[in-house]
Amino acid sequence: MAQSTKSAKLMIDGKEIDLPIYSPTAGPDVIDIRKLYAQAGVFTYDPGFTSTASCDSTITFIDGGKGELLHRGYPIDQLAGKSHYLEVCYLLLYGELPSAAQLETFELNITHHTMLHEQMVNFFRGFRRDAHPMAIMVGVVGAMSAFYHDSTDISDEHQREVASHRLIAKMPTIAAWAYKYSIGQPFVYPRNDLDYASNFLRMCFSVPAEDYEVNPILSRAMDRIFTLHADHEQNASTSTVRLASSSGANPFACIAAGIACLWGPAHGGANQACLEMLKEIGTPDRIPEFIARAKDKDDPYRLMGFGHRVYKNHDPRATVMKQSADEVLELLGVENNPVLQVAKELEAAALADPYFADKKLFPNVDFYSGIILEAMGFPTSMFTPVFAVARTVGWISQWKEQLSDPQHKIGRPRQLYLGETTRDYTDIEMR
Ligand code: SDX
Repeated sequence: MAQSTKSAKLMIDGKEIDLPIYSPTAGPDVIDIRKLYAQAGVFTYDPGFTSTASCDSTITFIDGGKGELLHRGYPIDQLAGKSHYLEVCYLLLYGELPSAAQLETFELNITHHTMLHEQMVNFFRGFRRDAHPMAIMVGVVGAMSAFYHDSTDISDEHQREVASHRLIAKMPTIAAWAYKYSIGQPFVYPRNDLDYASNFLRMCFSVPAEDYEVNPILSRAMDRIFTLHADHEQNASTSTVRLASSSGANPFACIAAGIACLWGPAHGGANQACLEMLKEIGTPDRIPEFIARAKDKDDPYRLMGFGHRVYKNHDPRATVMKQSADEVLELLGVENNPVLQVAKELEAAALADPYFADKKLFPNVDFYSGIILEAMGFPTSMFTPVFAVARTVGWISQWKEQLSDPQHKIGRPRQLYLGETTRDYTDIEMR
């Protein structure tokens, strides 16, 4: 925990309260209000936690003003360009880039845990064929706690490690099988001779009737999508995992809670919502109509894939993702894809519009990831499951960090109560 070098003075009803201020290694100072209620009898009020730090962390840092994202200090554009997803997983989990030997051991361990307990196949078959893959993922990941009892004791460091590796390893299989089930095709088992991204693409797109060769450009783009979505400070789904974990829930239940939260269109569901928006716009001549709706204060409509709570400059992930999008679309010969044409013209129109510039609403990571996934052949319903696969390592890293924090306690926010004060029950005859 940072040491306090100065304090903030708060005057309430003539009483002065001293609140310690901690200075981080990067980012704004924080005021420690933990003793505020005891000293002054008041709560703070911050719906949506726009100005509230819920924890201290050493994993990821975002400078929204500069459009900078660091994982353990390494800029995301360098990791996306020079590293690969499983190496970034190691970095997030253990704090340092691995040696060659450490990386080999880690990758071998993940690769050899990609299969699911065979009985879990029955869970998939319990869903209707038209079940959203995110519903299946929430259910199956939560059910892992019923199959992997030897890695649910959160007080046991070794069990925490095993659960971490199982979740990272099995999430692609669960997501791919959710997809296969939804299209009525047989499950494809993982292969130990393929890298993480190639394994996922093969499990999604190969069929027993013919051989399937993973295209290295698509595999690299898939790995980059995983890397760009790996972790992102205390976003809604990570905060959900931390809050679930604070009660002592097992790791599979906590990650299932994170998947459920990620599903929302304001968060991880934005990539699906963005593609559906682009398809609804349909042709570039309809873009002004949608931009007008997004700007209309009386219309709750928002441009999906634009804006971010933290980034008030560009989203550095979107910059890298855009490069990948161009590579994939050129490879697949779909640069004239009508959806992409709408995307490119919508981006240009929004960035030229003062409303978006003034409110710092730039394309975020979800704007481009959906375009790549669409080009790869994923249905929009699979966009958020891909995000969930990638973010599992971030959830797990933050979960481990919280459990190793001696200060951690159950999360229990207070409220500003505006309801009825005490009143007596009235019998029904009197109502
Ligand atoms: C992710 O937190 C993370 O780190 C998330 C994430 C991660 O990696 O975990 O980065 C992943 O969730 C990316 C964001 C994906 N969501 C979308 O693309 C959905 C569309 N975007 C918006 O819903 C919105 O921008 C949010 C939810 C992303 C951020 O909302 P905030 O920070 O709460 O901002 P706000 O709602 O207070 O909006 C500020 C203003 C408002 O106008 P005023 O009330 O001030 O007049 O900007 C407007 C909003 O109406 N606005 C938009 C807009 N987003 C905000 N107007 C039109 N279109 C939009 N997309």
